[in-house]
Amino acid sequence: MKQALLEVMRMNRICRMVLVTCLGSFILVIFYFQSMLHPVMRRNPFGVDICCRKGSRSPLQELYNPTQLELSNTAILHQMRRDQVTDTCRANSVSSRKRRVLTPNDLRHLVVDEDHELIYCYVPKVACTNWKRVMMVLTGRGKYSDPMEIPANEAHISSNLKTLNQYSIPEINHRLKSYMKFLFVREPFERLVSAYRNKFTQKYNTSFHKRYGTKIVKRQRKNATQEALRRGDDVKFEEFVAYLIDPHTQREEPFNEHWQTVYSLCHPCHIHYDLVGKYETLEEDSNYILQLAGVGSYLKFPTYAKSTRTTDEMTTEFFQNISSEHQTQLFEVYKLDFLMFNYSVPSYLKLE
Ligand SMILES: *[C@@H]1O[C@H](CO)[C@@H](O)[C@H](O)[C@H]1NC(C)=O
Ligand SMILES: *[C@@H]1O[C@H](CO)[C@@H](O)[C@H](O)[C@H]1NC(C)=O
Ligand SMILES: *[C@@H]1O[C@H](CO)[C@@H](O)[C@H](O)[C@H]1NC(C)=O
Ligand SMILES: *[C@@H]1O[C@H](CO)[C@@H](O)[C@H](O)[C@H]1NC(C)=O
Repeated sequence: MKQALLEVMRMNRICRMVLVTCLGSFILVIFYFQSMLHPVMRRNPFGVDICCRKGSRSPLQELYNPTQLELSNTAILHQMRRDQVTDTCRANSVSSRKRRVLTPNDLRHLVVDEDHELIYCYVPKVACTNWKRVMMVLTGRGKYSDPMEIPANEAHISSNLKTLNQYSIPEINHRLKSYMKFLFVREPFERLVSAYRNKFTQKYNTSFHKRYGTKIVKRQRKNATQEALRRGDDVKFEEFVAYLIDPHTQREEPFNEHWQTVYSLCHPCHIHYDLVGKYETLEEDSNYILQLAGVGSYLKFPTYAKSTRTTDEMTTEFFQNISSEHQTQLFEVYKLDFLMFNYSVPSYLKLE
């Protein structure tokens, strides 16, 4: 009898847990649909932090209702970029991908700045170190003034910035609704070559060689030497591409964030981004965001002329060695990023 009662209580607990989980997901779902239909411009009714924002308008209000005339044209440009994302999501939702509900874990790339009501989804290889530095200045409450005084490795320590998955569901929904959400994108294949060069052609950090290089050599190279199998430090671009298009790869585990699609990192079809910045116009778009946030007069996005930066010419070179069959398959993997962010099919590709 007692046993049975305990069993019932246990079942009850499980049911409750399931219910709470479902309810949580349900609330998230409702929010997505709302945000897709109309970007909400309501103000946070509670404790607005006056210390940290100049003026009383939020970045969202400034974006959708610019008071400064010189910002109106930029607002139109960003409206076009948003529409492009929405249209691509709509056009592809029927044919591909099962509709999926986001979980808090899907929000771990969304960096939150409560003081200026900003949410930044970081995409590796798209100026993310500098944007994380800027977010540290913005959230630092005076701890830093110049982004470049922050060492790069410090910008990547996860505890230095708060991400959206660390909040409760109501807190998440509130922030998604009232904060200005933005991300930065880059031509997908240029980003891919940049990731390859950074992680596989440089000797200084062996963690990617060990973690991914050894696997790629083992799977993609016939007659690999013992030395190559052990070190994994001489992956060819052709082998990297073969690894990416191999269906086993993504079945085993999600892509590493450095080559994962923006679509999968930031979920632009579920989260309504207010602003899509581009690597090609990095400074302009970044400073526009800082202006909307009310800090433009004293905080500028760091400019840097890195001579090692991956260019379009370099990308063309790298793709020359890839067969048209593999090019076609690779394009399929990154197709949504191309479409959503209005990048045309590169002219160097020989698609089948
Ligand atoms: C897409 O790119 C083309 C040229 O590359 C440009 O003319 C067009 O305005 C862009 N559309 C959007 C929505 O940004
Ligand atoms: C090497 O890369 C790993 C993974 O990205 C990172 O955690 C580590 O800090 C890096 N080490 C150095 C010395 O850059
Ligand atoms: C691998 O090595 C064997 C023996 O050395 C050779 O016969 C074979 O052709 C090689 N295969 C490839 C794909 O290079
Ligand atoms: C292309 O392939 C050739 C011959 O295998 C090689 O010498 C060259 O380095 C490759 N180019 C690139 C950019 O990988």
